[in-house]
Amino acid sequence: MLKTLNNKKIVISAGASGIGWATAKVCLAKGATVFICDIEKKYLTRAKKHPLNNKKLFVYECDAANEDAVTELFKHISKKTKKLDCLINNVGIAGPTGTIENLKSEDWEKTLKVNVISHFYFTKLAIPMIKRNKGGSIINLSSGAGIMGFPLRSPYAASKWAIVGVTKTLAMELGKFKIRVNAICPGTIKGDRMVRVVRDKSKFLKVSKKQIEKEFISMASMNCWIYEEDIGLTCSFLISDEAARISGQVIGVDGNAIRLD
Ligand SMILES: NC(=O)c1ccc[n+]([C@@H]2O[C@H](COP(=O)([O-])OP(=O)(O)OC[C@H]3O[C@@H](n4cnc5c(N)ncnc54)[C@H](O)[C@@H]3O)[C@@H](O)[C@H]2O)c1
Repeated sequence: MLKTLNNKKIVISAGASGIGWATAKVCLAKGATVFICDIEKKYLTRAKKHPLNNKKLFVYECDAANEDAVTELFKHISKKTKKLDCLINNVGIAGPTGTIENLKSEDWEKTLKVNVISHFYFTKLAIPMIKRNKGGSIINLSSGAGIMGFPLRSPYAASKWAIVGVTKTLAMELGKFKIRVNAICPGTIKGDRMVRVVRDKSKFLKVSKKQIEKEFISMASMNCWIYEEDIGLTCSFLISDEAARISGQVIGVDGNAIRLD
């Protein structure tokens, strides 16, 4: 891979598995130094086994939805670097599956806390470090559910539309500091998250998992799964100087998703 991210310093929330981990590996391969945090010990242990651990990869345990923990995380990161090129706000949970009458308020609140308010904690602390760098970028993980309705996943859709609103607003606030802000909307990713989503939806609708999977894939006109690395490669492009004038954009990486139902 071309070293288009040489010397760039990147923070990824929830970066020890799934899209975050795939993105960390792409960024490392392109020459970046990457700081990741996660809440799950098993993923943290795996990440620490990466050959670049403690050289160009730094791994921290942190609940992204706990403001004190995020403040502590940034204290650790600040000991390694005073400047950042990029923050990737990747953390986000699937939230509950069901019609509104069936959902609990605590599940709604948790989804908004992890998917939206955690991004605020990270962004607030990363901006001064990116300003010190005299520019850089912020990438927010939204979803196809951030540009379309998503039946049975109302709190998730609400959280991902919020991310698009924050992205557009921040891009306007931060442009004068040469900080670009973009959102990525992944389609249906082949990975652990979708295994859980398919299981929950098949249980709720009493339809086979195979049928649910087939329906998910057919929502993209390319009739395909999306891979975690597809998102990593899009992030690495947006971080690189090749994307120097791309900001305020909401970019689908979804095989042209045409519906979510
Ligand atoms: N997987 C998909 O199909 C898909 C589609 C569209 C958008 N997205 C979005 O992309 C992002 C990443 O998705 P993913 O599928 O890789 O997620 P995932 O469910 O696989 O989880 C990734 C990581 O998040 C960590 N995590 C969860 N809660 C945390 C917390 N409070 N603090 C720190 N770490 C935490 C988990 O331990 C895990 O390692 C999310 O914002 C998600 O909503 C995913």
